[in-house]
Amino acid sequence: MKILVTGGLGFIGSHTVVELQNKGFEVVIIDNLSNSSEAVFKGIVAITGKQPIFEKLDLRGKASVQDFFKKHDDVSGVIHFAASKAVGESVTNPLLYYENNLSSLVYLLQELEKKEEANFIFSSSCTVYGQADVIPIAETAPIKPAMSPYGNTKQIGEEIIIDVAKVSAINAILLRYFNPIGAHDSAEIGELPIGVPQNLVPFITQTGIGLRKELLVYGNDYPTPDGTCIRDYIHVVDLAKAHVVALQRLLNKKNLDKVEIFNLGSGVGSSVLEVITSFEKVSGKPFPYKIVDRREGDVTKAYANTDKANGVLGWKTQLSLEEAMASAWKWEQKVKAK
Ligand code: WQD
Repeated sequence: MKILVTGGLGFIGSHTVVELQNKGFEVVIIDNLSNSSEAVFKGIVAITGKQPIFEKLDLRGKASVQDFFKKHDDVSGVIHFAASKAVGESVTNPLLYYENNLSSLVYLLQELEKKEEANFIFSSSCTVYGQADVIPIAETAPIKPAMSPYGNTKQIGEEIIIDVAKVSAINAILLRYFNPIGAHDSAEIGELPIGVPQNLVPFITQTGIGLRKELLVYGNDYPTPDGTCIRDYIHVVDLAKAHVVALQRLLNKKNLDKVEIFNLGSGVGSSVLEVITSFEKVSGKPFPYKIVDRREGDVTKAYANTDKANGVLGWKTQLSLEEAMASAWKWEQKVKAK
């Protein structure tokens, strides 16, 4: 079976391609290389020994999307990662986010709604919950007004899919990620932030390798045990495997509704200081950081209620925070060595 992975050379996308190939799927990748490189393609092949098909194209080009589906009319499922995902950038450049994240989704869905059967997995985010009132966060938690245009594109994207699924043969699963971290244990693929990392773990590993002087911890006056924010950090390989499980659910027609929603997290909350401690353990050296003011838009606490993912989807995380930090560190050292 041929599966389309858009953004398949990105961080989560590339790890998902590996897991799809491991399960015997034929993969075609669409990527415009705006936030990835062909080196990632080589990394995938180095791990699995299998060549995905790679189509370099920008999903903002409606005609390109149409041509793609004429050429690849045997796609059985689509996993849609391709999107811009930097929260801060989305605030300063909202139209880039609305055009890239939404027009690409619309053009994809316009092709899928023509099919007699279409299976669609959408990369969403726990950011749709904002600061949830009940923690751990279940899929029934109310959607809060988005804190950024990035978060808004995820909310609007979900609504578009729900509306289209009602009037087409499209079956969809929306996967709301918590905080993806780490890398494949081969260190052939991993997170490749462009410029100064906005996310915690790549900033930590770049500091550990000497690329950054110290980590600025954004606030330790939150109402949490050690005062720093709490998040649900999930190993990217666990997250990738969840996408294959979700896809197989649709291919095997096990879905109970036209659109299903699952929170993908470990169910464990870790504070910034706990993540730092974990890194010190795996790197074997003290870690330089400084407490500074809070970052605008940060929620105090967010971690997943995993009952539905475990009980209905039949997936749960297997890897610990420490294993994720060790894999992120091994990857950073490999990148440095290149
Ligand atoms: C985690 C914690 C920061 C950097 C975002 C998006 C979310 C998803 C993951 C795409 C927070 C603290 C961070 C630093 C710090 N992205 N921190 N110093 O904000 O939970 O989620 O990325 O889907 O949608 O919202 O992740 O890694 O930026 O921050 O103290 O230099 O680390 O304050 O508490 P976040 P993050």
